[in-house]
Amino acid sequence: MPEPVRVLLTGRHGQLGRALTASVPAGIDLIATGRGELDLADAAACRAAVQQHRPDWVLNAGAYTAVDRAESEPELAEAVNAGAPGAFADALADSGGRLLQVSTDFVFDGEQGRPYRPEQPVQPLGVYGATKAEGERRAEAALPPERLCLLRTSWVYGPVGANFCLTMLRLHRAKAAAGDPLGVVADQVGCPTSTAGLAAASWQAIGRGVAGRHHWSDSGAASWYDFAVAIGALAAQRGLIETPARVRPITTADYPTPARRPAYSLLDCTTTRRALDLEGQHWQAALAEVLAQLPLPQA
Ligand SMILES: NC(=O)c1ccc[n+]([C@@H]2O[C@H](COP(=O)([O-])OP(=O)(O)OC[C@H]3O[C@@H](n4cnc5c(N)ncnc54)[C@H](OP(=O)(O)O)[C@@H]3O)[C@@H](O)[C@H]2O)c1
Repeated sequence: MPEPVRVLLTGRHGQLGRALTASVPAGIDLIATGRGELDLADAAACRAAVQQHRPDWVLNAGAYTAVDRAESEPELAEAVNAGAPGAFADALADSGGRLLQVSTDFVFDGEQGRPYRPEQPVQPLGVYGATKAEGERRAEAALPPERLCLLRTSWVYGPVGANFCLTMLRLHRAKAAAGDPLGVVADQVGCPTSTAGLAAASWQAIGRGVAGRHHWSDSGAASWYDFAVAIGALAAQRGLIETPARVRPITTADYPTPARRPAYSLLDCTTTRRALDLEGQHWQAALAEVLAQLPLPQA
C-alpha cells in the first residue's frame, strides 16, 4: 500500500473548501482547516502549521475574496492573499512539501480581448487582484518550480456559500414576484466555474503532481447577463422558481462598484486540461448539475 498523501487544506468552510472536503480521493490524509484552526492573516501561524503537520501538499483554498471590500481593507487582503501563500511557500521550501495555490482571473486587466494563457504577465485592476498576484509572486519566489502549482480560476459558484448563482436565484424570485426587471451587467465576459469541477481539477493536480502555472474554468464564455438568464431559465425548468424575472442587460457604468473588474477575463485552459487529463464541462451543463442539488421550495 502506498503511503497516504498528507494535504493541509485551508478555507474548509468556503465554497471551494466544501467541495474539496466532499470529494477527497482515496489515498489522501486530509488536515482541513478553517479560520478557527488557522488564521491566514497570521504568517507565523501559517509557517508553524507546515512545521507541525509536515504536509506533502498545502492546498490553499482560503482567501480574502470580498472584491469590493478589499478596496478599503487592503492590509488585511494583502496579509491573507499574499502573506499566507508566501509563508506557506517559505515553510514548504524547508520541509520539502508542495503548494497548490488557488488564484484568480482578476490578476489580469481584461484588455486583450482573447483568453489569457497561464504564462502571460499579470496586470490587476484592483486590490483583490493585486494581492492575489502578489501571493503568486511570493510563492514562485520561494519554491522551486516543480513544487508549486498555481491554479487560476474564474467566477466560482456552487450549491453552498455566497455566490452569484444563489444571489440570482433569490433576485429572480423577488423581482418576478414584484413584476420588476432584474438588471445585470452585460459588458463583462468570463466563464462561470462550478466548485465541483474545480475541486476535481485540484485533486487531480495533486494526484498527478502537476506543477507550474495553470488555468481552470468550466468551458465556454458568458457575460454576467447571460449567466443570470441561464440561471433563471434552468431554475424555472427544475421548479426552483415559479418563473424567471425579466433580465435586463446593463453596463458596468450603470452599476458602479468600489473595485474595477476586468471586462474580458476568459482563461485559456488548454495546457491545463492536457496536464490534468480532464475535459472541462460546458458551464451550462455544470449549472444544471449545481441547480439539481438545490432543495425544491416547499409547496
Ligand atoms: N469566488 C470566486 O468567484 C473566485 C474567482 C476566482 C478565484 N477564486 C479563488 O478561489 C479560491 C476559493 O474561493 P471561494 O470562492 O471558495 O471563496 P470563499 O467561499 O469566500 O471562501 C474563502 C474562505 O477563506 C476563508 N478565510 C478568509 N480569510 C481568512 C483568514 N484570515 N483566515 C482563515 N480563513 C480565512 C473564509 O473563511 P470564513 O468562512 O470564516 O469567512 C472562507 O471560508 C480563492 O483562492 C479565491 O481567491 C474565487
